[in-house]
Amino acid sequence: MKNLKFYFQKALKEGFAIGALNFNNMETLQAIESSCKINNSPMIIAVSESALSYMGDYCIALANTTRKNSRGIFLHLDHGKDFDICKKAIDMGFDSVMIDGSSLPFEENIAITKKVCEYAHKKGVLVEGELGQLKGIEDEINVKDNHYTDPNLAKEFVEKTNVDSLAIAIGTSHGAYKYTGAQTLRFDILEEIEKLLPNFPLVLHGASTVDENLIKNINANGGKIKNAIGINQEQIKLAIKKHNIVKINSDTDLRLAMTSGIRQILKTNLSEFDPRKYLGNGRSEIEKLVDKKITDLFYSYNKI
Ligand code: G3H
Ligand code: 13P
Ligand code: ZN
Repeated sequence: MKNLKFYFQKALKEGFAIGALNFNNMETLQAIESSCKINNSPMIIAVSESALSYMGDYCIALANTTRKNSRGIFLHLDHGKDFDICKKAIDMGFDSVMIDGSSLPFEENIAITKKVCEYAHKKGVLVEGELGQLKGIEDEINVKDNHYTDPNLAKEFVEKTNVDSLAIAIGTSHGAYKYTGAQTLRFDILEEIEKLLPNFPLVLHGASTVDENLIKNINANGGKIKNAIGINQEQIKLAIKKHNIVKINSDTDLRLAMTSGIRQILKTNLSEFDPRKYLGNGRSEIEKLVDKKITDLFYSYNKI
């Protein structure tokens, strides 16, 4: 079977990316699975520690169903904060884990990432590390400003840890409120990293584009989301097509799609109380969104 490492190499060669989409429930997975099948696209289904505890045992059961039903779908731990949670995910059968030591001093980040790699690689599981910090909130950690990745440290980090991919900070950020003014990704930093780490798989977190039509629909149906702004789609495309970004993380966009679909039903049909109707509409909205991402952003269609 082709593993995630194969797809990272293919993505590097052919200029596409593999989406890493977060999930919390069955409907999200069903939407991702359906869209991947139609588009013949590889995909990473990502679960944060808080999502894992929200779903409990259902997480693996649901993810296994998705992996069984569709080829090229990989289960990934998002933002693992210590060795124990990474080990737990590896032992549960995840295909890859992220050890996020980005808030730690450099040497400590190296030590913990190396330790996770040693354990994971023995079991054929891939490891993503992170260097540099994104603005925004990840689980309980709140970062006020961007701390861009230092290219020289990135090279040292990869060499010393043996990670399979590296999440870098070049101006993306987590959540729905990414910028207050005009902002651009730091392609100069990205190029420096690529010079020092040629053909190495790089990852962008916080890469939701925040579709303004979803925000309008949420607000038209009783929501109140103000000043939401995402990453410029063209910049992400450039990072995928002309650079070594092979994994694009998105959670916020799926949350917005689901909320938009649910609100629409509940606001327009006040007597509706069948969860299948409103959750089903949330699922349809996610499926449309994933289709659009696969075809217009990741270019991952027909890459299985
Ligand atoms: O990068 C963080 C993800 O969006 C996960 O968020 O911990 O609320 O599930 P969460
Ligand atoms: P967004 O908040 O931009 O969707 O980023 C999600 C993410 O990076 C998950 O790890
Ligand atoms: Zn992230």
